[in-house]
Amino acid sequence: MLTLSKESRPIVEATLPVVGEHIGAIAERFYQHMFGEHPELLDGLFNRGNQAEGTQQQALAGSVALFASALVHHPEALPHHLLSRIAHKHASLGLRPDQYQVVHDNLLWAVADVLGDAVTPEVAAAWSEVYWVMAFALTQLERGLYSARGVRPEIVYRDWEVTDKVRETDDVVTFRVRRADDRPVRTSLPGQYVSVLVTMPDGTRQPRQYSLTRADDGEHRQFAVKRVRGGEEHGGRPDGEVSTLLHDTVGVGDTLTMSVPFGDVVLDDSGRPLVFCSAGIGITPMAGMLSHLVAAGSHFDVRVLHADRSEATFALRDQVLADVAALPHAQVHLWFEEGVAEDGASGLDADGVHAGLMDLSDLDPPATALPAGAAYHLCGPLPFLRMVRAALLDRGVPPGDIQYEVFGPDLWQADAQAE
Ligand SMILES: Cc1cc2nc3c(=O)[nH]c(=O)nc-3n(C[C@H](O)[C@H](O)[C@H](O)COP(=O)(O)OP(=O)(O)OC[C@H]3O[C@@H](n4cnc5c(N)ncnc54)[C@H](O)[C@@H]3O)c2cc1C
Ligand code: HEM
Repeated sequence: MLTLSKESRPIVEATLPVVGEHIGAIAERFYQHMFGEHPELLDGLFNRGNQAEGTQQQALAGSVALFASALVHHPEALPHHLLSRIAHKHASLGLRPDQYQVVHDNLLWAVADVLGDAVTPEVAAAWSEVYWVMAFALTQLERGLYSARGVRPEIVYRDWEVTDKVRETDDVVTFRVRRADDRPVRTSLPGQYVSVLVTMPDGTRQPRQYSLTRADDGEHRQFAVKRVRGGEEHGGRPDGEVSTLLHDTVGVGDTLTMSVPFGDVVLDDSGRPLVFCSAGIGITPMAGMLSHLVAAGSHFDVRVLHADRSEATFALRDQVLADVAALPHAQVHLWFEEGVAEDGASGLDADGVHAGLMDLSDLDPPATALPAGAAYHLCGPLPFLRMVRAALLDRGVPPGDIQYEVFGPDLWQADAQAE
């Protein structure tokens, strides 16, 4: 069991409230200072979009506060989901154990900078210990992940050749890539993502994660990218840099640098019924899981519940509907915010097509659509995830049966809080 020393524990307990209160400011100062000292970390490792939005700062702050509190109050039950999610993200970026020192030094610098005289040498030593306990837990998990994949951090990425670029909707494009070398293609678990590393026009390399949308065939990988739009309609924010570059400049025959697949939100294959709930581009990991189920000839009971703005924005819909049709015990229910075609003329082969936002009470009868003892997989924007998870909990679904994927740093940490 990972614990704090008997000297540090009371100090961390006594300073938890003050550190917790200022953890957001500490995380902000930490990143500012670290990137000032080590600008190279923004080239090929950190996501500068998340930095600009402040989401990574919040995720780091939340994770350290949660972990420190668990160390003090429940050292026997450290937040496994939280650590696992971070470790998978780190591994997908090829993080090395020796890189933990630089984060330690800058984080402790920021604690002292924000809290001033309150940080005595004893307080600094106690929080340094918190950091190293967390770092130890993460590096152990990361070592296990690399070893299970048969890779080292240095060879997480490799080059792939784009063989197809398929327009799915106005804003979504699928990339199909083929290995460009003789190294074996590591298997992906259904629901996992890859990091794609691209060189931006200013010469800086930027990684982004994309969920795999097809089962493995030993040669190819496939993922779908939604163009992130900026401009006045989106609060004057800039267009997303990597998605725009992939849409506008990467084509068939080009090379893409991509990581081995990682991700802790994977298909529950215990044989229980499966319910997938997605919104918008959140369909991508569900498409990947469905594709794996079809490839495996699965007889599982599967419910696909998907919400989108309209029929025209429903990405991967032909693939998803074909896979549902190919599974002997699968149903699909759809919700379109902008309404549905009159007289059921949409031509969609679904068990139910509803207008508006996803509402589980539209399912008729709900018991059939939400089978008892099911494992739930959710993916979409945070408000959607919150709404669906709350509706499921209201229906008595145990929190441990609900897994969710979020397309950015996890600011919610509902899994960790439920542990
Ligand atoms: C596990 C996981 C799986 C994912 N799977 C998929 C998938 O299957 N398909 C998919 O399309 N996406 C997926 N994503 C999201 C994807 O990784 C990217 O986040 C997405 O493509 C946007 O990247 P971008 O570079 O285009 O946008 P970024 O440039 O990173 O911008 C992101 C946001 O920040 C704003 N921003 C950027 N700079 C500034 C600034 N200076 N000031 C103010 N605002 C700013 C932008 O306007 C935008 O709203 C996934 C993410 C994760 C974590
Ligand atoms: C105890 C130490 C650390 C903690 C607690 C921590 C915590 C986190 C958290 C919470 C996330 C977001 C995960 C998510 O929800 O997707 C993350 C992502 C990340 N971490 Fe760490 N981390 C640690 C060490 C490091 C180190 C040593 C590095 C490298 C120098 C690093 C680099 C990154 C990068 C590049 C990301 C992705 C950032 C993004 O996508 O914006 N981390 N980490």
